[in-house]
Amino acid sequence: METGSRLAALSLLLFAMLSPCVCSLNPGEIDPLLYEEQLLWVSGAQGQVNTYRIPLLTFTPKGSLLAFAEGRKSSSSDVGAKFIALRRSTDKGATWSPTTFILDDGTKPDGLNLGSVVVDEEVGSVILIYTICFHLYLCRPSSTMMVESVDDGLSWSPPRNLSVQLGIKNFVGGPGFGIQKRYEPAKGRLVVCGHGTLEGDGVFCILSDDHGHNWYNGAALKSIPYNQKKRAQDFNPDECQPVEMPDGSIIINVRNQNNYHCRCRIVVRSRDGGLTLPVDDLIFDYALVDPVVAAGALQKDGVMYFTNPSNEQHRVNLTLRWSLTDGKSWENKVVQIWAGPSGYSSITSLNSGSVEDRKYIFIIYEKGHKVYDETVSFAKIHLYGGQ
Ligand SMILES: *[C@@H]1O[C@H](CO)[C@@H](O)[C@H](O)[C@H]1NC(C)=O
Ligand SMILES: *[C@@H]1O[C@H](CO)[C@@H](O)[C@H](O)[C@H]1NC(C)=O
Repeated sequence: METGSRLAALSLLLFAMLSPCVCSLNPGEIDPLLYEEQLLWVSGAQGQVNTYRIPLLTFTPKGSLLAFAEGRKSSSSDVGAKFIALRRSTDKGATWSPTTFILDDGTKPDGLNLGSVVVDEEVGSVILIYTICFHLYLCRPSSTMMVESVDDGLSWSPPRNLSVQLGIKNFVGGPGFGIQKRYEPAKGRLVVCGHGTLEGDGVFCILSDDHGHNWYNGAALKSIPYNQKKRAQDFNPDECQPVEMPDGSIIINVRNQNNYHCRCRIVVRSRDGGLTLPVDDLIFDYALVDPVVAAGALQKDGVMYFTNPSNEQHRVNLTLRWSLTDGKSWENKVVQIWAGPSGYSSITSLNSGSVEDRKYIFIIYEKGHKVYDETVSFAKIHLYGGQ
């Protein structure tokens, strides 16, 4: 007994001496390293799918990772029939389950589109919000839909039509993740932001204060001229990613569809839990040059992260940036994840509070050699240079 516990103490001591010091993870020492990367989906390589696009990535309350993508059946087009493909990892991204198709819209001319994934940590559920007939192509109306998993992504509820509660409007989430408010105001609220389409584009948020049972319309940042045909350089906020800041406000990083004012990202803030997005709180972030695309953002342990193809004209050069000043400024150093064609991206992390989980973030993105929609890739980033 005594020898056993001495041995245990000795091996603990040895372990502590041999493992690199992780005593303090200081944001000032962030030095991200592309640690591991693997392709989750390859377009054209699997029988029923022509192109995988629009990757989403989320943590789950049990510490798994879920990756989703649209499996576009007959072409790379945004319209057309699709599956929603899912892969799960229960070992922090080292290995992934085979692909399952959790939704199939048959042969619809304007099928489903992703979408936002939002985790309710209070009840342990994962909610996926997607849209049918978003483009009104040979169909009407557009419907905002939801499926939910309460078993870590293994099984999914039948689809629910949220347009019954929200009213009829063209809305598609993200693409990216929605948030559950961790701080006041409106702690516990689910906030899913996305965009409209056609003349009615803009950023819109839908909210739920009861774990996704009831949804209502929250903030709107409308395009100008709203409900009218746009011209080049009109104000046309589009795909977006919200993150919650430590002060409880929500910062939304937005695609600047018509390059209004700059070839860069629009950033807008809600201070009332997603009810409003006042223009008083809107800036153009010149540091975040952008070719008009869906980008990734994450707030983790006081640091903000951002991914996009960092180029004014083309979807190439997938780049990770980070900010120690809540997005007011970005560190000069950046990490190039992929020099070549790269499109939509999304970021997540595990939040157990363990040292291990504080060291990594995970990026999913569209990656190719000739064109960006050849594959969907998963990248594990060590935030402290592998230490
Ligand atoms: C969803 O509900 C709306 C409003 O009731 C309805 O118009 C629409 O047809 C429904 N969509 C589907 C796919 O059932
Ligand atoms: C890639 O991004 C970095 C950081 O924004 C920039 O300095 C570089 O010029 C970019 N390269 C290309 C080819 O876009």
